[in-house]
Amino acid sequence: MDEQGWTAVVAAATRAPSIHNTQPWRFVAAPDRLELHLDPARALPVLDPTARQQVISCGAAAEFAVVALRAAGHRAEAELLPDPADPDHLVSVHVGPPREVTEEDRVLAEAIGRRHTDRAPFRPRAVPVGLVDRLQEDAAAVDVWLKPITASDEEVATVFLISRAEEMERSDPEYLAELKGWLRTDPAAADGVPVVAVPSEDPATRPSNWLIRDFVVGSRGPQSAFLPPGDPDAPPPAVERPSVVLLGTNSDDRTAWLLAGRALGRLLLVATAEGLVASPLTQALDWPATRTRMRTRLSLVGYPQMLLRMGYPATAPTATAGRRPVAEVLSFAPGTG
Ligand SMILES: Cc1cc2nc3c(=O)[nH]c(=O)nc-3n(C[C@H](O)[C@H](O)[C@H](O)COP(=O)(O)O)c2cc1C
Repeated sequence: MDEQGWTAVVAAATRAPSIHNTQPWRFVAAPDRLELHLDPARALPVLDPTARQQVISCGAAAEFAVVALRAAGHRAEAELLPDPADPDHLVSVHVGPPREVTEEDRVLAEAIGRRHTDRAPFRPRAVPVGLVDRLQEDAAAVDVWLKPITASDEEVATVFLISRAEEMERSDPEYLAELKGWLRTDPAAADGVPVVAVPSEDPATRPSNWLIRDFVVGSRGPQSAFLPPGDPDAPPPAVERPSVVLLGTNSDDRTAWLLAGRALGRLLLVATAEGLVASPLTQALDWPATRTRMRTRLSLVGYPQMLLRMGYPATAPTATAGRRPVAEVLSFAPGTG
């Protein structure tokens, strides 16, 4: 693979979602492989002190690289943590001899450019059961389980833990300062979360049974405890009821986090190809206390890694989160022509 080929693959890999759009990765390309390294300069020491969510983000980027390589007609295999002496060398994607491109390769690669996080309310339409089954099988292929949160007691417990976590976050000045550092008012910013991509209203007043992460907490005016007066005869707003799925693993180390990231990346591409959108709801997994309680309240065997709401989009995307230029994150090993 030459420099031009690698540039296209890394452009696809960096379209992956990442916590707060930190893009915590750097890539080194050689003729026969692409190395993906965690970039500690982009850490989130308050929200993610173990780098769990950043490693998941890198796992998703590795999956996007594999999908892009296969769609370009190459065999591609991801080797996780290839260097025991360097735990930040997270993945080497090895490129093999040419192979025939399948329809699935094409469809998934085409979804890379369209996928985005959609935090707006979804249309009132359920995610087909057959699709959930397929997502479950795909996740299981990389040792990750997918649990739809459908039972009402599990839903109540999960929503309760998310709101506990939100409360803790809203009152933690260090968390708020870190979050503010990754919010971007310039829509052309190359990283961070654009304010136009997050709903401006308080998530607590949104007619939904799920609570999305509040990115602009602190910069909103004082809130009334009541909804603004409107037409008293108007029907109450429809309550959004998205499908919510939990991804988890049997262990809780960098290998497991990378696998969860790969499963997340694939799930998002399959969902995008089917016309769905998603947004993570990871507040309850940010903090050891709420994460542990989720394990017990949902009787999980293993470790929750990612909670996602999924559904059909009601509106066109408002803004796309930016990405750093490929040249900033990719270097070439000697001999890559
Ligand atoms: C591990 C992980 C955790 C995330 N947690 C949240 C979250 O709690 N709330 C949210 O709205 N978005 C969350 N996101 C989505 C990112 O904010 C989003 O991927 C990033 O801003 C880039 O935007 P894009 O996905 O539209 O490309 C998360 C993403 C990852 C990979």
